[in-house]
Amino acid sequence: MIKSQSNKEHVAVERVFDGIGILITRYFRIFTLGIKNVKIKNPYFWGCSILTTLFIFCITYEYDFIVILKLIFPQFFGEFLTVKLVSMSWIIYFLTFLVFSFFLFIPLLGIKEFKNIKKYQNDFDFLSLRAGNGSTPKVIKVIELDENKTRVIIKSEGIGLDKYQSKESDLTCALGQIVENISLCKNPRYISFNLTRKRLPEKISFYELPEVKESPLSFKLGESLGGFEQQTLATLPHMLIAGTTGGGKSVFFKQTLLSILKSTENVQMYLLDLKKGVEMRPFEELPNVKVIKTEQDAVAVLEKLKDEMERRFEIIEAEKVKDIGSARKKLDRIIIGIDEASVLYTKVRSDSTKKDLINKARELTDELSKLSRAAGIHLILATQKVTKETIDTKVQENIGGRMCFRMNTFQGSNTVLGNKMAHELPDVKGRGIWASGNKFIEVQTPFLSEEELEGELAVLSKEYKDKTRKFIGPVIEIINSNTSQELDVFEGEDKKDA
Ligand SMILES: Nc1ncnc2c1ncn2[C@@H]1O[C@H](COP(=O)(O)OP(=O)(O)O)[C@@H](O)[C@H]1O
Ligand SMILES: [Mg+2]
Repeated sequence: MIKSQSNKEHVAVERVFDGIGILITRYFRIFTLGIKNVKIKNPYFWGCSILTTLFIFCITYEYDFIVILKLIFPQFFGEFLTVKLVSMSWIIYFLTFLVFSFFLFIPLLGIKEFKNIKKYQNDFDFLSLRAGNGSTPKVIKVIELDENKTRVIIKSEGIGLDKYQSKESDLTCALGQIVENISLCKNPRYISFNLTRKRLPEKISFYELPEVKESPLSFKLGESLGGFEQQTLATLPHMLIAGTTGGGKSVFFKQTLLSILKSTENVQMYLLDLKKGVEMRPFEELPNVKVIKTEQDAVAVLEKLKDEMERRFEIIEAEKVKDIGSARKKLDRIIIGIDEASVLYTKVRSDSTKKDLINKARELTDELSKLSRAAGIHLILATQKVTKETIDTKVQENIGGRMCFRMNTFQGSNTVLGNKMAHELPDVKGRGIWASGNKFIEVQTPFLSEEELEGELAVLSKEYKDKTRKFIGPVIEIINSNTSQELDVFEGEDKKDA
C-alpha cells in the first residue's frame, strides 16, 4: 500500500520534471527564434525595446518595487535577495531588471514564428515522407515575404528534392497554399518552398507587363506568382519553346522576337518558318530580318551562318578577347529562330534529297549550338514535341532555357523538363513552365495580338528607314530565295501526279 503510494508520487514527480524540461526547451527554442528576429531595421523591435526600457526605468525609479515583488512572490524574494537588491547602486539595480526583462521580451519576438513553424510542421507531417533511418523533414524557418507569400525552409533529413517535387499536389492540399517553387538552399541539406495564396491571371497582355530592362536580347517571360519575370537570351544562350498545338508557342515566340528587336538595334534575325512563312510574315518588312520558307534555303542559311561563326572566331582569336561583345570591331548579334522546328529536323526515309537536307540541317544546328555563344549567335527553337528525332540530343544539351506549355502526356513533359509539371498545367492558353538550370517557374506568358505585333513592327521598320535605328549588317542574302516558288510549283506537280 505504502509502496504503491510512493510509486505514484514518483511517477508524478517524473512527469513534473518532464513538463519542466519541455517548457525549458520550448522556451529556449522561442528565445533563439526571437534573437534571430532581432533586426536593426525592424521597427517593431525598436518600439518594444524602447517601451521596455522606459517601463523598467519607471518601476525601478524607487526601490519600492522590490517590496511589491516580495509581497507577490514571497518564496522568490526572500530576505537575502531583497537585502542584496536594495543594497545595490541604482544603476546596477536598474540594469539587473532590464537584463531580466530582456529574457521575457525577446521570446515575444519569436513566438509568432514558433507557432507558424508548428503549423507548417503539422502540414508537412501529412506527407509522410521518411528518410531511410525513419526521420522526417523538419521545418526550421518560416519567413513571411508579404501578405500572400511565405517561404518555408526545412531540413530535409536526407530526403531528395525530387521526392518533394513529386508530392507537390499533396503539399498544396495539406498547406492550403499553392507551391510556387521548390529548390535546394545554398546548403543542400535544406530545402526552400515558396508558397502563395494568390493565383495566376488566365490572360495577360504584353502591354500590362512592365517593359523589359534595357539589356540587349532581353524579353518577357510573363507573370509568375512571384511577379514579373524576364530573361535575356545572352546568358542562355539558346532557348527551346515546346508544348501541344494551340498552347501558345507561336505567340510566345513572336513576342520574344519583338522584345529582342526592341531591346537592341544591333541584331539580325533569320526566321525559319517552314509552314510557308505565314507566322513570321509580319517580320519580313524589317531590313535586319530574313524569313526563310523552304528546307533548301534553311540549309543554305545555316551553312552561311556557320561560316559567319567561324569568321567571328577568327576575329576573337586575332583580338585575343573572350567573346564578340568585347571585340573592337562591333558586330550584330544573330538570332536564328525556328518555328515548327520538327519540320526541319525530323528524319524521313523515302525522299533522298530531303533526307540529305535534313541530315545537313541537323549537323549544322549541332555545330552552331555548340560553339555559337562566344560568337553572339543564338538559337530559338519552337516545337511541339521534343524527342531525339525532332531535336538532336546534342542540341538539347546546349539549350539553357526552356518554355514548356501544356503537354498532353507525362512523357512529353518529362522529355522537356525532366518532370511532369507541364502535364499538370491547367488548360489555359499561354500558361507555361519556364525552366532554366534547376529552377522551374509557372508563368502566364504575355499575349500579343497579330495587329499589335504588326503595329510594333511598323514602328521599328520606320525607325530603320529613317536611320534613327541602325544595325551593323550586312545580313546574309539567300541566293536560292526563288526556290520557295519553285518548290510550290514542285509540290503542285507532285499533287497532280498523285
Ligand atoms: N499568352 C497567351 N494568352 C492568351 N491566349 C493565348 C496566348 N498565346 C496563345 N493564345 C491563344 O492560343 C491560340 C494558339 O496559340 P499559338 O501560339 O498559335 O499556339 P501554338 O503555336 O502552340 O500552336 C492563339 O491564337 C491565341 O488565341
Ligand atoms: Mg504554332
